[in-house]
Amino acid sequence: MQAIGVDVGGSGVKAALVDLGSGEFVGERLRVDTPQPATPDAVVSATRQLVAGFPDHLPVGIGFPAPVVDGITTTAAHVDAAWVDAPARRLFGQGLGRDVVVLNDADAAGLAESHFGAAAGEPGVVVVLTLGTGIGSAILSGGVLVPNTELGHLPVRGVAAEERASARIRKEQGLSWEQWAEALGEVIAAIDALLWPDLVLLGGGVSRKAEKFVPLLDVRPRVRAAALQNRAGIVGAAALAAEAAA
Ligand code: BGC
Repeated sequence: MQAIGVDVGGSGVKAALVDLGSGEFVGERLRVDTPQPATPDAVVSATRQLVAGFPDHLPVGIGFPAPVVDGITTTAAHVDAAWVDAPARRLFGQGLGRDVVVLNDADAAGLAESHFGAAAGEPGVVVVLTLGTGIGSAILSGGVLVPNTELGHLPVRGVAAEERASARIRKEQGLSWEQWAEALGEVIAAIDALLWPDLVLLGGGVSRKAEKFVPLLDVRPRVRAAALQNRAGIVGAAALAAEAAA
């Protein structure tokens, strides 16, 4: 079984054909810059352009950087404000000319880690944090996802977690790995005090450099780098699309 996964991010829209037996991409990942401003029309048309490069009979899943409740995007932290309360499933469906599933981008990453990655077979509570433009979160218990958690917006000493410890903040503020690990450790400790997870997985492109910061984290729960890095959003979106189509 194959499906198409799309990951809408603050800086790029990415898509790939995914083999759902292995969780691997089939062929190349395609990418375009996220249009600015990232209005619904502009993002849907960028997505249409990407998806046109793949077979047209396959299910499509789209990970989006906002909570997605019944196909409606409810906030817009890193995309245009017009996405607040937008009927995303209908807009993408009309734009692409077929049914699609739309889910939160970090939930997609969590599903992918649970199916194919570092949370596979984990019986306990896993928190997946995606470190990118913002911080996305997914919570899984025994592989079952609690959708639309927004731990990146948890205030930590009065400032939203993603404004302290996202990968974007590390670059914008020129933080050393030590400084960034300290900020990230505070975020994980704040989450730990509320949820007591068995395992925390850190994803996003920066998880490629996990050896530079994971060993510096001084926190209670086990912390590991996510396995699928920035492929996870695409793979998880494709997996959900395939399940919905089955
Ligand atoms: C959004 C989340 C999203 C995360 C990562 C946050 O600002 O509120 O919904 O998962 O960024 O893209």
